[in-house]
Amino acid sequence: MATKTSIHGAWSSRWAFILAATGSAVGLGNIWKFPYITGENGGGAFVIVYLFCIAIIGVPIMMAEIMLGRRGRQSPINTMHTLAIESGHHPGWKFIGILGVLAGFLILSYYSVIAGWSLAYIFRAGAGAFTGQTPTGIEAIFDSLLGNPEALLGWHTLFMAMTVIVIARGVKHGLERAVKFLMPALLILMLILVGYAINTNSFGKGVSFLFNLNFSDLGWGAILTAIGHAFFTLSLGMGAIMIYGAYLPKDASIAKTTFTIAAADTMIALLACLIVFPLVFENGLKVGEGPGLVFVTLPLAFGKMDGGVFFGTLFFILLTFAAWTSAISLLEPVVTWLVENKGLKRVTASLIAGGVTWLVGVLTVFSFQKDSPIIFSFKFAGEQKSNGVFDILDILTANIMLPVGGVLIAVFAGWIMSREASRDELEIGDGHTYNLWRVLVRFISPALIVIVILKLTGLLDPIIYLFTPIVDMFRS
Ligand code: PHE
Repeated sequence: MATKTSIHGAWSSRWAFILAATGSAVGLGNIWKFPYITGENGGGAFVIVYLFCIAIIGVPIMMAEIMLGRRGRQSPINTMHTLAIESGHHPGWKFIGILGVLAGFLILSYYSVIAGWSLAYIFRAGAGAFTGQTPTGIEAIFDSLLGNPEALLGWHTLFMAMTVIVIARGVKHGLERAVKFLMPALLILMLILVGYAINTNSFGKGVSFLFNLNFSDLGWGAILTAIGHAFFTLSLGMGAIMIYGAYLPKDASIAKTTFTIAAADTMIALLACLIVFPLVFENGLKVGEGPGLVFVTLPLAFGKMDGGVFFGTLFFILLTFAAWTSAISLLEPVVTWLVENKGLKRVTASLIAGGVTWLVGVLTVFSFQKDSPIIFSFKFAGEQKSNGVFDILDILTANIMLPVGGVLIAVFAGWIMSREASRDELEIGDGHTYNLWRVLVRFISPALIVIVILKLTGLLDPIIYLFTPIVDMFRS
């Protein structure tokens, strides 16, 4: 078992894996999505719930996913199949892998469109389009991009092509090289931007929004969004981290590796908020603006600061790269499956998977067109959504498929796989750390996620009602 290797290649070291997995984790989720959902959900209290989810649910499930990947050393579907049989259970567990591959497809379809916005903004910033603009002017630039389906489609196509090229080239040559430089550069640029935000008059206001502890407005929908985002931002619940784990050297410590990735990811997300919220307040923008938030706040800052054309261009280049290293990990699970099960060459598999994803992405392009038939408003868990199919895809994947995939991964690692197997693979001894991990994946993480999902589907209250007499019986 321990000598198994992957047919798709391997990382050259533990650090290469950390960089690649951090590249997968850090992406649009941190810089684009986290600030806007924090804004929509009222700030501090949401952030605390999110941090709690990262620590209690995200970290143990990431450990589980890397562990399963390294033990199976195949595409997520085949890894789950093999490990289920190995532990004497039904091969139907490979369903976890299938669900994941499907989620990856759907996420990448809209992820690529948003990454296209970032690509477009490299050129807007480079041409000095933001210089000296008012908030209304900046909003008009954003609206004119969204209202231009040909442009959106063009950028989406370019981004998908970039993703397919790296995947087609394989693990070592494409991925490893790129992330080594890009991740540190992104961090430095973000620190510069935080420096800019500190010097605005509204920095204090931004910080207090980010860390206020007003739990009274926090609904179940917000809690589910926080759980969902913990999965999304750490790339969990769909096999991306599992397939990267399949290329991890046997001697690397999974626990330490996981802490490093989760810490880096959380830091980038919080930095993004420290940049965005002061600028929102400084310029009288709306915190609940939605998906356009960073595409409006940051250009405003670039338009005003010295060297803004340079920093602005650089920022959108790095954001695009961050999205790129994430997109790759969304496509890798399905490509490896096509190679393993359909006997396709890596290049062919990448083209097919990329093509299908591109096609689904067209739906998102039209979700931002005013008169398109697929744009509509609806309410989800008390929140108003107005971008039709895009919102549906986002909720379905991030808030439902990833958490469900995550619960199943936790259940598999905690209940189906033998204690010996997981202990052997995690190599954290038989002490407190291992036991804590096991309690988290067996009980705590699944229970928390299931409770929130039951609550949102309206099933929790009847269940509590049914159990109240029994609990009362014990009380008396
Ligand atoms: N983690 C990525 C981000 O935050 C998105 C992602 C989700 C990537 C799931 C892979 C798998 O942008």
